Amino acid sequence: MHFNNKVFIVTGASQGIGKELAYQLLQQNAKLIITGRNEDRLRLAKEELSSLGAVEYVVADMGVWEDCQRVADSTLTQYGKIDGIIHNAGMSAFGKVADMKREVIDEIINTNLRGVLYLTNLVLPAIRAQNGSVLFVGSIAGLHGLPDYSLYSLTKMSLTALAQSLHVEEAANGVFVGVAHIGFTENESVKKTLNASGEPVDVPRRNSLLTNSRQVTASSILKQLKRKKYWKLHSKVGLANHFMVRFFPRVLFTIFKWNYKG
Ligand SMILES: NC(=O)c1ccc[n+]([C@@H]2O[C@H](COP(=O)([O-])OP(=O)(O)OC[C@H]3O[C@@H](n4cnc5c(N)ncnc54)[C@H](OP(=O)(O)O)[C@@H]3O)[C@@H](O)[C@H]2O)c1
Repeated sequence: MHFNNKVFIVTGASQGIGKELAYQLLQQNAKLIITGRNEDRLRLAKEELSSLGAVEYVVADMGVWEDCQRVADSTLTQYGKIDGIIHNAGMSAFGKVADMKREVIDEIINTNLRGVLYLTNLVLPAIRAQNGSVLFVGSIAGLHGLPDYSLYSLTKMSLTALAQSLHVEEAANGVFVGVAHIGFTENESVKKTLNASGEPVDVPRRNSLLTNSRQVTASSILKQLKRKKYWKLHSKVGLANHFMVRFFPRVLFTIFKWNYKG
């Protein structure tokens, strides 16, 4: 598959991996709609990207049906077709299940799961017409439930189930569906995660040896899409985690318990 003149929606592309995906897609002559909730950040992203090609933005909260509808409608109005969508918008939260405020539960499930379903449902008819693609951005947190990241893990693991169902459902319609489980990727300095009370806080720093650049992660995701690989792990940590989940699940639990400070 190539991206030349293909119309793609990239959700959550005002910063981070989504913006880098947009950058690399435009370099390959795709036409884009990018989304996010913060209009100032989206406008800035559009300004940065527009010298590379056709890009428009739609301000939309993934958890709101009407917003998702506007994303689908605006894409068709702007470009007349939809060849694919990369469900990249995502939010994480940390804290014990027992301590989570209801608002945090709702926000993570609305962003990472409900919105993904809404938008997939709304764009599939147009994507079918182009024999196009749907790609979900998952995480190594979706391979095994992580302590203190239960909400994030459950929403990312659910993407595998959704991709598995859709992969079969849509095959007869000529639509490719896949899931990209990415590993630690360098974060924007402004990136936030939610604590159990719902306050946005800085994301903990990571071991740089285990962290990919956004360029490497985005390029790997686009390669998966081009090759139409249903499922791919995009990091060495992900490969190690998958191996343990598959062959040594009890050992993995023991490791988590040892390391868990509580
Ligand atoms: N970075 C990593 O190490 C890593 C590892 C594994 C998986 N991932 C996944 O990769 C994806 C991108 O991560 P990132 O690190 O680039 O995150 P990021 O820097 O926080 O960017 C997230 C993007 O999603 C948008 N967004 C968040 N909530 C939204 C909502 N409710 N509705 C619409 N847009 C929303 C944000 O814009 P607004 O805030 O303006 O809405 C922003 O554009 C996520 O799905 C994440 O879970 C990242």
